[in-house]
Amino acid sequence: MGFGGLGVENTEVGAALVSKLTSLPKTMDTPIEASETHSNCRPDRGVWLKGGSAVCTPPAKPAPAPWRLVLLGAPGVGKGTQAELLCERLGACHLSTGDILRGASKSDGCGLSPALQTALEGMRRGELVTDGTILDIVGERGRCLRCSGGFVLDGFPRTVAQAEALEKLLAREGVELDAVFDYEMPIDEIVERLAGRRVCPKCKAVYHTTGQPPKSEGVCDNCGSALVQREDDRPEAIRTRMRVYAESTAPLLDWYRKRDLLVTVPAYGAPDEIYARAWSCSREAHPGTLTPTGSLGGG
Ligand code: AP5
Repeated sequence: MGFGGLGVENTEVGAALVSKLTSLPKTMDTPIEASETHSNCRPDRGVWLKGGSAVCTPPAKPAPAPWRLVLLGAPGVGKGTQAELLCERLGACHLSTGDILRGASKSDGCGLSPALQTALEGMRRGELVTDGTILDIVGERGRCLRCSGGFVLDGFPRTVAQAEALEKLLAREGVELDAVFDYEMPIDEIVERLAGRRVCPKCKAVYHTTGQPPKSEGVCDNCGSALVQREDDRPEAIRTRMRVYAESTAPLLDWYRKRDLLVTVPAYGAPDEIYARAWSCSREAHPGTLTPTGSLGGG
């Protein structure tokens, strides 16, 4: 199902999507209060990060209309930041393949397969992990894809081969994507974002030294851990990641455009503004969902 054509609400899937958009609470495109954005009681989404028989605590609440989104965009454009906002408001889970891989790289290396060890070395240089390894990892996490709370996929798919595999995985789990948000910004500004990024190694919160600084310099607002710079945020690795993105990931835009799922979102401004813009870009593609006040939904 997708966003592109006018009159999409006249089709069965289009009608389902329009109904979902019009039932969104009005608060969804208003700014988030600071106290809401960095909750101290984040759910532990163990299944995605640990895989296998892990169970989330607390379990995700079934959403009346679960959202299933994919986020695309160059490294550092702000996908992870937007994923957090989307998940807080939609009640969905943030599923990041980068987080799984970084989690594996933090382990002492024992128990990592040779393939995964090789993959992690490439990741540190800014290269992509092989499709086979990524698909093995994601394939074990079908439970997250069929979760009744919905999901926001960040960092996967990254190649057309991965997108084809995701399509099959979702069909196997009996669910469909609602939209693919593609965040766009000039490369110079993206590099600036990456250079200033600091992350919490424990709870995964993301900050920027000037754009989104923590309350206390170098310390995570959520859990008090010391913030760190990611290994792949060094200049050499950043250059490689940008090249790899252009070669491997950019072709995905056409792939999703052809499936009528793509929503292009200019990624300038504050995170809350970009969040609101994503939904207004969706509304532009779906005039039927506009309300007289310009807000999402009828609430
Ligand atoms: P991954 O973790 O997915 O990284 P990425 O795609 O390179 O994206 P980033 O996490 O770097 O950036 P982002 O867009 O999420 O930006 P963020 O919100 O943090 O992947 C890492 C590596 O893993 C890959 O290179 C690859 O090796 C491997 N990998 C992962 N998945 C794979 C796959 N499927 N296949 C193969 N390999 C795979 O924001 C960046 C900074 O900007 C932050 O400091 C943030 O605070 C700041 N910021 C964000 N928004 C704003 C704003 N509006 N204003 C000011 N500052 C902002």
